[in-house]
Amino acid sequence: MPILFNKAAREFHLYNGRISYIFCIAKNNQPQHLYYGKAIPHVESFSHMNILRSTVLSPVPFSDDMDFSLSTVLHEYPSYGTGDYRTPAFQIQAADGSRVSDFQYKSHKVFEGKNKLTGLPHTSCDVGQGTTLELILADEELSCELVLYYSIFEDLSVIARSARFTNKSSQDLKILSALSMSTDFDESDFDFITLDGAWCRERHITRTRLRKGIQSVGSSRGASSPDHNPACFLAATNTDEYSGDCYAFSLLYSGNYTAFAEVDSYDGTRIGLGINPFEFQWNLGKGKSFETPEAITAFSDRGLNDLSSNLHDLVRKHIIRGIWKERVRPVLFNNWEATYFDFDEEKLLMLAWQARSVGIELFVLDDGWFGRRNDDTTSLGDWYCNLDKLPQGLGELSAKIKSMGLLFGLWIEPEMISQESKLMNSHNDWAIGVPNRSRSFGRSQYVLDMSNQEVVDYLFHAIAKVIEDGDLDYIKWDMNRSITEAFGAALKPEDQMSFFHRYILGTYELYERLSAAFPNVLFESCAAGGGRFDLGMMYYAPQGWTSDDTDPAERLKIQYGSSLIYPLSCMGSHVSASPNHQTGRETSMDFRFHTAMFGLLGYELDITKLAGAEIEKIKEHVGLYKTYRPVLQFGDFYRLKSPFDNEGDTAWMTVARDKSAAVCANYKVLAKPNPSLKRLKLAGLNEDSFYRLVGTDRIYSAKELMSRGIALEIEFSGVVPPESEQIKCTAGKDYGDFTSYLYFLQEEKVRE
Ligand code: GLA
Repeated sequence: MPILFNKAAREFHLYNGRISYIFCIAKNNQPQHLYYGKAIPHVESFSHMNILRSTVLSPVPFSDDMDFSLSTVLHEYPSYGTGDYRTPAFQIQAADGSRVSDFQYKSHKVFEGKNKLTGLPHTSCDVGQGTTLELILADEELSCELVLYYSIFEDLSVIARSARFTNKSSQDLKILSALSMSTDFDESDFDFITLDGAWCRERHITRTRLRKGIQSVGSSRGASSPDHNPACFLAATNTDEYSGDCYAFSLLYSGNYTAFAEVDSYDGTRIGLGINPFEFQWNLGKGKSFETPEAITAFSDRGLNDLSSNLHDLVRKHIIRGIWKERVRPVLFNNWEATYFDFDEEKLLMLAWQARSVGIELFVLDDGWFGRRNDDTTSLGDWYCNLDKLPQGLGELSAKIKSMGLLFGLWIEPEMISQESKLMNSHNDWAIGVPNRSRSFGRSQYVLDMSNQEVVDYLFHAIAKVIEDGDLDYIKWDMNRSITEAFGAALKPEDQMSFFHRYILGTYELYERLSAAFPNVLFESCAAGGGRFDLGMMYYAPQGWTSDDTDPAERLKIQYGSSLIYPLSCMGSHVSASPNHQTGRETSMDFRFHTAMFGLLGYELDITKLAGAEIEKIKEHVGLYKTYRPVLQFGDFYRLKSPFDNEGDTAWMTVARDKSAAVCANYKVLAKPNPSLKRLKLAGLNEDSFYRLVGTDRIYSAKELMSRGIALEIEFSGVVPPESEQIKCTAGKDYGDFTSYLYFLQEEKVRE
């Protein structure tokens, strides 16, 4: 059992071969943190770790013990009001208005596998894959129970956490805040890493030294947002991709959240993650329970690549569900950047035919197929076919596309409603807004009140009908605007502060019901690109549209940053037109493909207008992608060179799970004249093996490839470059801006 209990010392040790997480029950009967980091051997008592200190101004709960102060001990799930002045994990208000609590240890259970959360995304963990500690605490005065869940995975350096409050009293309680996890460190010599951005430039890496006070990211938009991903990291200041201690913290939640690090006056660091306490309250009626969303934390002493590798495995094995979990994902064509709203059946069939001819497997009809939708001002909510554009109907179009041998999918934006729509005429009250106040527009549309069960039920039936009528294999589920004027028309005044949480619970319910009813449909989540690209969404939708920015040079940063948490099998990534529609930048088809292939490949440009040579190139690319698809989609991913440190230049690679093959790419964004010679060190290969560079007769030891590296292309220096050690399998332009090289490696039998 990887969770041990030292009975006498009342200590819990969660461990596997990689990590240890240790806490005790302190003399006030509350859980007190002791250690989180690299695995250490179990001993009968860790009490020596419990170094108490207090200062002259510290409040103390016991008058005969001036050393034990809640303002300085390390907590597991801290409260406010009894001496700790850092940000609490929760706050509960009693019927008399008081907000002081004292949740004390009552008992615990340890079991194989893991708890499931109701109506919320959660990691799965079968018997044999991990162990869970259920720590039961109670506040006798409030008659409230608090259960803290900790699940440690057998083969990953990951712990999942959540909390559940149950009101056992005869009076109503109010939860003012309830985080998913809190962890205290007694040091602050860390960098704080977050994934920040905006629409079209999501998840850029920000790394700053921790400083005193609170540094946080969060969202109050109603979705996790493109501004900040719901996650944060701590990394010892010398940590890089290959070495050093680092911690990840992330939420399986897609609504308003907070994720913060708070450095106190004595250089301790508190990490907290959970529902954003701003715009949140939950009335906990008698006998009722409230579960927080789940958070996960991971640790590595081997740098950020290893940390990400654990997170990727967690997503692939323990978050993604259903038939698409391990199944290679189809190469898709999406008509959005090819036609926008301007299409008819003939155009779509021409696109589909061309897509099929280059080897594409799934045709996705994006926005504009429903209601009277010809631009973004109308029809959201009217989920039936636009017969002006598609007079034969959806079923007929689907049948024609399927008869070409393609799968068929649709874009849909269930949570939205247009002012000009039949749905608005019949259900004006379903659009979020405060009565007698005007509603703000966002992308010319309003948001439906997903906290209202009637709305969720209606949408389930409406979308189920679309799936059946169109015989759909795939759905791109979009969410194009943030919430304003938050108010639930069906909620009581005293429940209004729970609106945002109820909104996302309603969205999760709709996802759950649709994916249960249509288990073969592949869902791709989207929120104006990557505005709700989080672990919560991945529980329902195995893949996400990474960003509306399809410019390959921009995508290097977006995909590199995303890879800190998310595996390539979650990242929709398309080749689009040149000049690019978001940046106007011109790049070669090779450069575009070389970037998009490190993700779930798709095409999103008018392929009926391309020259024959470009079509041939796409055919070649799609064939190449399919050959290496299992390695690209499900291999182990390594970041080799960061676009954030190298003026955009990037390198990365994926290695097959059995290490028999690898695909590596090096990208140069801006050419420099007369540059120095550069080598690229590879990673993740089988140390004792040799690898053949596909397309050449060269064979290298893995040790050489990882220690000396491969010599990169010689660039313009005024003389014709010698052949020397240059190796390339597929190249874009030979030199200049936006060049890229791919290297395919095949493991050879070990040499004598
Ligand atoms: C959002 C999506 C795009 C596209 C449009 C359609 O912006 O991110 O990919 O589907 O909506 O309106």
